[in-house]
Order: sequence, then structure tokens, then C-alpha cells
Amino acid sequence: MFEKEVYIKRRAVLRDKMEHGIALFLGNVESPFNYKSNTYKFRQDSNFLYYFGLDIPGFAGVMDFDSGKEIIFGNDVDIDDIIWMGVQPSVADLAAGCGVMETHPLGKLEEFISAAKRKGRVVHYLPPYRGETIMTLASLLGENPLAMESKASDSLKRSVIAMRSIKEDIEIAEIEDAVAIAYDMHVTAMKMCEPGVREQEIYGRLEGISLSAGAGVSFPIILSMNGQTLHNHDHSGILEEGRFMVVDAGAETNRHYASDITRTTPVGRRFNTMQREIYEIVLKANIEAIKATRPGASNRDTHILASKVLATGLKDIGLMRGDVDEAVMAGAHALFMPHGIGHMLGLDVHDMEGLGENLVGYDEKVKRSDQFGLAFLRFALQYQPGHVFTIEPGIYFIPELIDMWSAEKKLSEFIDYDMARKYLPIGGVRIEDNVLITADGHKVLGKPIPKSIEEIENLR
Ligand code: GLY
Repeated sequence: MFEKEVYIKRRAVLRDKMEHGIALFLGNVESPFNYKSNTYKFRQDSNFLYYFGLDIPGFAGVMDFDSGKEIIFGNDVDIDDIIWMGVQPSVADLAAGCGVMETHPLGKLEEFISAAKRKGRVVHYLPPYRGETIMTLASLLGENPLAMESKASDSLKRSVIAMRSIKEDIEIAEIEDAVAIAYDMHVTAMKMCEPGVREQEIYGRLEGISLSAGAGVSFPIILSMNGQTLHNHDHSGILEEGRFMVVDAGAETNRHYASDITRTTPVGRRFNTMQREIYEIVLKANIEAIKATRPGASNRDTHILASKVLATGLKDIGLMRGDVDEAVMAGAHALFMPHGIGHMLGLDVHDMEGLGENLVGYDEKVKRSDQFGLAFLRFALQYQPGHVFTIEPGIYFIPELIDMWSAEKKLSEFIDYDMARKYLPIGGVRIEDNVLITADGHKVLGKPIPKSIEEIENLR
């Protein structure tokens, strides 16, 4: 965890924003994967980490916004635990490490919350996403478990999002470290990308790198020759010459900050002509989009700009036609890029998505579009210094989508479906970097990971 002053300050800022009531932050508990005592690798809740930093299961943090009181609820280990887990720091010592001086056993939490409710106090909490947390919250608050998500505190969500959206310098340094791990993962993948190699072998190697350098992957690795499936978690293929391999993979640091990088590599040593054509268009969209990121511009504008670069490139090689601005306005390019240009990044790979995608990426002035493609943009807001997000344009040849649109003659004034089918062997190409908005521009975070054709061919 960081120094305790970091957490003390964050809680003070939250207290100023919230003014009244009690906030209950339930940390995560161990989660079984095939029987109770055989658990998944523990991952602490990101909001609990942000305000309390304790990376241990079974703790709860309470902030009283009226009195300023802060309490950690958790259990000291007993001799049975010590036999299996070794000696552990006391709850009081752990709590002092994040600047909280009052502690109680976890069993006292119910009494504390009941007393607050009897006094008519508001208990704010954030939307729970794990079954265990939903059941605990419902039981503590005497609510229907099915209502817990919808009854989460709007003011707490908005206050937390306002804080976590602007990254502190120590957080930016963590994300750079996470990109450094991703550098090793991606360069390893590029070097292993030879005909005959099993996708699973590369996948396992990358996951191993993330664990040996940090807290593991920041999301399940996407690695496949079938990059047209945007989140392809099937790694059963054997690499074939002439195909592309898409690798979308990031790591968490030991403090749980994420990176999220995508690279696309030709299997074999060189890009063939068709691969080069499509790759260069996506690379241009990636570079132009990153160039456009600065305070005052918006991620919605960046999405539109990248879409126009993609449509222009696709028109140049005969897959699209007509006026590029009109084609993008009509959403024709979304046949080839049916996703948004990027999302926020931080303690979560889709940062704060659990607090509500529209609260994180949209506001009163910027509303979500319902057009296919643009509707999937997770973050559309005007940039502010301290925002960290991904820029990840792609071109995909999804046979089922091409067949569907073609049968409907959808937007056929802008799309040459016969030409599009010729490019099916490409599968998909995505190139993704992690970007910080600075006071007067932007910074691509971490050591640059090879992405030009020349850099990749040299590495191969
Ligand atoms: N990189 C995976 C995702 O953005 O969902």
C-alpha cells in the first residue's frame, strides 16, 4: 500500500464532498472456486483499496461524515489461523497503517449499522458486484438482496468517481509500472509468434510474466488468430503463417493498478500485402487519435476522428465508398469497428465501471448515442489533466456481421460488401495504448511497445 497520508487525505477529500451520513465500504472476502477452502486468487475491492489500502480479505471500513469518525472492522487471527497462515499483524496495526485509529471485530459491524439506522442515519454504500457482498449488505441493512445495486448511494458514487477519475502522481507511476510489465508480455508474445506454436503456450507465458512481476493480469488475456471476435478467450489454435495474432493483455502492479495494451503481430516474419494495408490504417488511427488528446478536447471527438481515419483508409483500398464524413455520421464504419475508442484505466481495467458506466463516461452535457458502434463508447467526456484511458482503434472482419448487413443492404452506399469479404482472412487488428492527459497535452504511458511495421518486423 502507499503511505498512510495518501489514504488519510483521500478520506478527508471524500468527507468534504459528502457532508452527511455514514459510508460503509465492504472489502472483498475470499471466494471459493470448487470448495469452500479452495479459493480464487484474492482481489480486493478497488474502492476499498483506494480509501483504506488494506489488501486483505474480510475487512470493512466505515466513515462517519458528520462526526469525522473512521473505523476498521476486522478480526485478529487466532491460534488456528496462525497454524495455517503464520503470525499476522493485528487489525489495530493494519488500520493504523492507513491512518484509522479505531477498530472493532467484524461481528460488531451489524450492531453498529443497526444503531445508526435506529437513529435514522443514512448509510451510503457503493454498488456491490459479488454475491457475498450483496448478501452481507442486504443482511446488515435489512434489505432485499435484489435491491442492493439499485439502492446504492448516488452521491457516494458521484463523489468517488470525481476523485478516482483524476489520477494522482503516485497512481500514474503505478500505471507506468503496469505498462512496463505489459511491455515484457507483448514483446514476448511477438517473439513467440511463429507458425506451429500453440496460442495456449503464449497465453501461459504472458500470464506467468504478469505474476512474476506484479499481481497478475488485469483481465483475462485475449489472445487469438481469430481477432474478429473482440474478446476471444479461446486459446486452442495453432498459429498459421499468413494469419494475424491479436494479443490484448495487461498486468496489475502489486498495488493493483492496471495496464491494458493490444498489439497485433503477423504469424511468421513479415506482414503480407493485405495485412500491411489493414495494419497501416489502424496504426494511423491509433497515432492520430493519440495526437488529438489534450485538455478541452473530448474522447467522443477522438472516437469520431479515429473513425474517420479508418473510413478514409478503407475507402482508399476499396472497402468503403462515398463521403467519409457522411459515412461516419451514418455509422457505416462501425461494421469494421463495432466498439468505442477507449475507456478509463486505473485500479480497474475499465476504471470504475462497477460504479456505473454512464456516470464515469458521460454527464449532463454529453449523452450516450444509441447508434451501433458509438453506443459502445464507454468514456465520452471532455479530457481533464489526470485522466488516464486507453486508445484502441481496430478493424475487424466479422463474417456474421458482414453477412447480416449485406443481406439487409445496410448502408450499401458506403460499403462494398464483396470487397469486405475478400479481407476475411485478416480476422482483426487492434492497436491499443494507455494515455494520460497532462496540463498541456498528453503522455503515452510506459516504455513504448513496438507498434510500427518496421519495429515489429525488426523484432521478429
Ligand atoms: N482490454 C480489454 C477490454 O478493454 O475490455
